[in-house]
Amino acid sequence: MQTELDSIIEVVYEKVPYLTTRAEVELYKATILGPKGTMTAVMKSMGQLPKEERPAAGKLINQAKSSVITAFNDVLQRIDASEMATRLGPSIDPSLPSPDPDRGTLHPISQVREEIVQLFSRIGFTVAEATEVETEYYCFDALNIPADHPARDMQDSYYLPDQLTVANMSKHADEKYLLRTHTSTVQIRTMLESKPPIRIIAPGRCFRRDTPDATHSANFHQIEGLYVDENVSLLDLKATLDHFVRSIFGSKAKTRLRPSFFPFTEPSFEMDFYSPDLGKLSNKWLEIMGCGMVDPEVFKSVDINPDRFTGYAFGMGIERISMILQGVDDIRYYYQNDIRFLKQFA
Ligand code: DAH
Repeated sequence: MQTELDSIIEVVYEKVPYLTTRAEVELYKATILGPKGTMTAVMKSMGQLPKEERPAAGKLINQAKSSVITAFNDVLQRIDASEMATRLGPSIDPSLPSPDPDRGTLHPISQVREEIVQLFSRIGFTVAEATEVETEYYCFDALNIPADHPARDMQDSYYLPDQLTVANMSKHADEKYLLRTHTSTVQIRTMLESKPPIRIIAPGRCFRRDTPDATHSANFHQIEGLYVDENVSLLDLKATLDHFVRSIFGSKAKTRLRPSFFPFTEPSFEMDFYSPDLGKLSNKWLEIMGCGMVDPEVFKSVDINPDRFTGYAFGMGIERISMILQGVDDIRYYYQNDIRFLKQFA
C-alpha cells in the first residue's frame, strides 16, 4: 500500500506544475480524490485488510491525502496570484503599501455630535430622528407656538411651494411645509409614536432664514433631549445637564440656570457654564443651551396626561459647542470644505 500511495504522490507532484487554471486543477483533483479517483480506490481497498492492519493503513492514507491536498492548494494559490497580476497589469505590486496613506475622518461637527450622542447613550438615552421637511404644525403649533406668537418670527424658515405634496406627511390644516427650524419637532413626533417613559436624544440639521455671519448660518445642527416619565423633576434636568457639561467641558465646570422663556417649556431656562479647564477658551460664563420642564400644553397636543406625567427637554446647537471646544471663531469655516481647516481636526 505504501508503494501505491507513494506513486500517486509522485504523479501528482509531477503533474501539478503544468496546471494553469482552476478548472484544470479541479478536473485533475477529481482523478485522484474524486469517487473514482486513484487515492479513493486505495482507501476502498482498505476494507479487505485484516482488522488489526487497518489503523496503520488509515494513518498512511491520511498522510498521503494531506500531502496531495497541500500540492493542490499551493497550485491554486499560484493561479490566484497570477490572475490578480494579470488583472492589475504589470506596474502594480499588490503587496506594496497603498501610495496614499491619508484616511478620511469625520467632519468636526460630526465628531462633536458623536461625542454628545455617546455620552447621553451611556445614561440611557436612545437616538430619535425625524425629517428635515416639516409642517408648520409640528414645527410650531404642537410646540405651543401659535401663528401669531412672536417666537415664530425669531425662527423664520424656508417654505416649500403650496402645490407640493410631501410623501407620508399630511397637513393638519391650511398650513405650509417648511424646513424645520429646530429639532424640537422630534419631541412631538416621538411622543405621538411612543408612550412614557421616553428618554431620547435627537441630533439633526436645522434651517433658519438668518443672514450668515460669524455666529449665524442658514443651516446648522442641534441636539434635542427629552425625558418624560412619572415624577421627573427640575432636579433630574439639572443633574443630567451638569453631568453633560462636566463630561464635555471639564470636571471643574460650573453651571447655572438662568430663567428664560420658551413656549414649549414651563419653567424655561438658559444654561450657562464656566470651565477653568478650558483656559482662555472659556474665561467667562458662556450660554450653552435652552431647557426646561415640558409645558402641559405640549403634553395635551400629543395626548399625554399632564396630571400623571412630567418631563424635561433641552436643545443645544452643535456648532456652538464645537466652536468652543475647537477654538473656532467663525461658524462659516465649518461649511466651506476647506481641507486646510478640516485637516486640523483629523
Ligand atoms: N428649540 C429651541 C431653539 O431652537 C431650543 C430649546 C430650548 C429646546 C428649550 C428645548 C428646550 O428642548 O427645552 O431655540
